[in-house]
Amino acid sequence: MELTALEQEILSYALNTAEARASFRQRFLRKGGILEALFAQLRTLPETERRTMGARLQNLRTLAQQRLSEAEATTPTPTSSQSLPADPTFPHKIFQPGARHPLSLVEKRVVRIFQRLGYTLAEGPEIEDDWHNFSALNFEPDHPARDMQDTFFIDPERQILLRTHTSTVQVRVMERQKPPIRILAPGRVYRHETISARAHVYFHQIEGLWVDEGVSAAHLKATLSYFVAAFFGEGTPMRWRASYFPFTEMSAEVDIGCLICGGKGCPVCKHTGWVEVLGCGMVDPNVLSACGIDSERYTGLAFGLGVERLAQLLYQIPDLRLFSQNNYLFLQAFQGYEHAF
Ligand code: DAH
Repeated sequence: MELTALEQEILSYALNTAEARASFRQRFLRKGGILEALFAQLRTLPETERRTMGARLQNLRTLAQQRLSEAEATTPTPTSSQSLPADPTFPHKIFQPGARHPLSLVEKRVVRIFQRLGYTLAEGPEIEDDWHNFSALNFEPDHPARDMQDTFFIDPERQILLRTHTSTVQVRVMERQKPPIRILAPGRVYRHETISARAHVYFHQIEGLWVDEGVSAAHLKATLSYFVAAFFGEGTPMRWRASYFPFTEMSAEVDIGCLICGGKGCPVCKHTGWVEVLGCGMVDPNVLSACGIDSERYTGLAFGLGVERLAQLLYQIPDLRLFSQNNYLFLQAFQGYEHAF
């Protein structure tokens, strides 16, 4: 009687979902299921009954197994759909290469240009003292850059600070090396500014220094004109402006015709059509002497390039903050990008 009901249940059990098949399997085919419990009771029966009951239970078990394998064969499962034949028109998985940061691209481009002129690389620390950042560079004791308003001091008492320019490397190189000197020093610098589209608390410069007998302003002008043509292309509008730096005598700045607005006027060029990209000059004899170099015998030229400015013009980037925000979409634009150096 009980077995007939069980047979009915096995035959009518709905097996169209994976969960239903799992509970069916548990009820009829697994340890702890009803059939197993009935098999266990066989031992308590007299010999003859045990035989017939045993055979009937075995039939039920076979029936349950059959129903389950039929149900599994007719219901598609995730495994069976994965084994569909491969589709040869399916697009290949796209390999995404990394991207160089635009400031790295610009630095590399500048370094390559000056290497062709015989410049080698030098570097110095970002944490500096007053001597290398100011005093050896001929800054007056009350120069405004020495103020906490403009410079980040790490230890105001000992005048330890974050360098405000890469001109510090000029001093470090001249202190340990005698002319001829021809070096290029890329690096990060820090200033106490309010962050905006045009200013940041850190940015990057590339310092250049050439000290030897007979280095003149003509060399300076030729070197930087060559650089601008190599970096931006022949015929790029460029102008020289007289300027002032404590560590150079004469001093000048170079502006490039704004490549973002084509000279019409925009926020990057402050509506003047020109963007300043570098400061330069002839090394002040006081600086040579402070570094132990005979200023009667040697002269030097120096320049400091603003890397962000060069990158803004080369790639038409309107806002400085993009360089430091790690914005994936911005960085992705430089994917696979390399200059023909
Ligand atoms: N150190 C200057 C600055 O940060 C840039 C500069 C000007 C560097 C003239 C030089 C130079 O080497 O000769 O504004």
